[in-house]
Amino acid sequence: MKLKILASVLAVTAAMAAPPAKVTSGVTYNKDVLPILQNRCQACHRPGEIGPMPFLTYKETRPWAKAIREAVSSTKMPPWFADPKYGHFANDRSMSRKEIETISAWVDSGAPEGNPKDRPAAREFIDGWAMDKPDAVYQIPTAFPVPASGTVEYQYIVVPTNLTEDKWVRMTEARPTNRAVVHHVVVYIREPNSKWLRGEATPGVPFVPPAKTADGKQRSDIGGGGSDILTIYTPGNSPDVWRPGLAKLIKAGSDLVFQLHYTANGKAGEDQSRVGVVFAKEPPAERVMTLGLGTDKFAIPPGDPNYRVPFTVTLPNSSTLLSFFPHMHLRGRAFEYKVTQPGGEQETLLKIDNYNFNWQLTYRLEKPLLLQEGAKIEVAGYFDNSPNNPYNPDPKATVKFGEQSWEEMMIGFIDVAIDAKMDKKTFFTKKPVKADD
Ligand code: HEC
Repeated sequence: MKLKILASVLAVTAAMAAPPAKVTSGVTYNKDVLPILQNRCQACHRPGEIGPMPFLTYKETRPWAKAIREAVSSTKMPPWFADPKYGHFANDRSMSRKEIETISAWVDSGAPEGNPKDRPAAREFIDGWAMDKPDAVYQIPTAFPVPASGTVEYQYIVVPTNLTEDKWVRMTEARPTNRAVVHHVVVYIREPNSKWLRGEATPGVPFVPPAKTADGKQRSDIGGGGSDILTIYTPGNSPDVWRPGLAKLIKAGSDLVFQLHYTANGKAGEDQSRVGVVFAKEPPAERVMTLGLGTDKFAIPPGDPNYRVPFTVTLPNSSTLLSFFPHMHLRGRAFEYKVTQPGGEQETLLKIDNYNFNWQLTYRLEKPLLLQEGAKIEVAGYFDNSPNNPYNPDPKATVKFGEQSWEEMMIGFIDVAIDAKMDKKTFFTKKPVKADD
């Protein structure tokens, strides 16, 4: 119910912002509706993708006409959660008032097919990928068996790249082969000098790192041990495609480490996730890095409907902010990113009021934002640990950090572009390297 109310508030806000648009009758599938479906829906609603039914043809679409009107006018579809009051996003999926009205008018007039001559050419998709055809694909070497029930610990699988030279990645996309059992995939780039999991995890063999080190301490390297992230798969997310001049670095001799979160769904299955990369033709001016801003030091009190967990970081070097990826678990209800530039006032960059664990999306800035040296970023997650949260596994529990869905996380990932000569360590410790150094 709450989601519905929020959704209609969003719809009203969008409607107020847009100039009045009148959709006249005579609206047909071929002329008016198909172009909208091609633009807004078919990426997911085509065979092999996450939408439960395809919307490629009139025949496939017609039985869903009323459901489509309902889904778009309630803004349930397409899935998009950014508060429209803040920020502009290149991958904004929300529909214009005119598009919603066109669909409504079409359904109201009996959902006619119209003249085949009006039909636009079918949109072309690359089978199996939402980005361009990859130059290289790295896959876990054997399918992982997921049981019908029970908890599956995060699996770490090292996949050597066997690259003999440094490579810059311009596009990347991670894909399960069986989405039904994959909650998320994080692909880390383990550089040749990194000790992370080395000697512990045999390449190609699923590995579960023990929660504690040999001397009984909590392990702190579960999140990649300082490795950069190549990309993350979550349901409904879009591939990473950076503008020319930006790329991620995979150094010669690096391994990719897949962190796989499998969830048993009542039916045993197997998955053999993979990641595709498109290489840049030439070295980029700037390097893209993913930073996870968050904390594992929190305890959400039982029953609290709106518990805030903030985290603040000051970035010692300048960078360009590209995108956001908020991450919480089942008690997550809202998330925000704010920035304070040196000498400036705090500004909200992204706000999500109705966070949904099942839809973890990347929000890519339409205009990347230059963060000056010393910019302060504040992220905050809000948690609903009350019995009113329909997803809450146990409102009586005090909830702490943990990998499983009934535990919590508060991480605001960001992608930033930095000088191509820097890495994560120098970015956080040193001044920029000058071109003539
Ligand atoms: C990012 C992927 C994605 C996009 C884009 C998307 N859908 Fe969906 N759609 C889904 C998934 C997954 C489901 C099933 C889960 C759910 O209902 O949340 C779904 C469910 C639906 C349903 C069934 C709703 C219900 O209440 O059961 C309709 C109708 C629908 N989508 C219409 C659309 C239309 C129309 C568009 C474009 C305007 C669209 N979707 C865009 C992924 C997507």
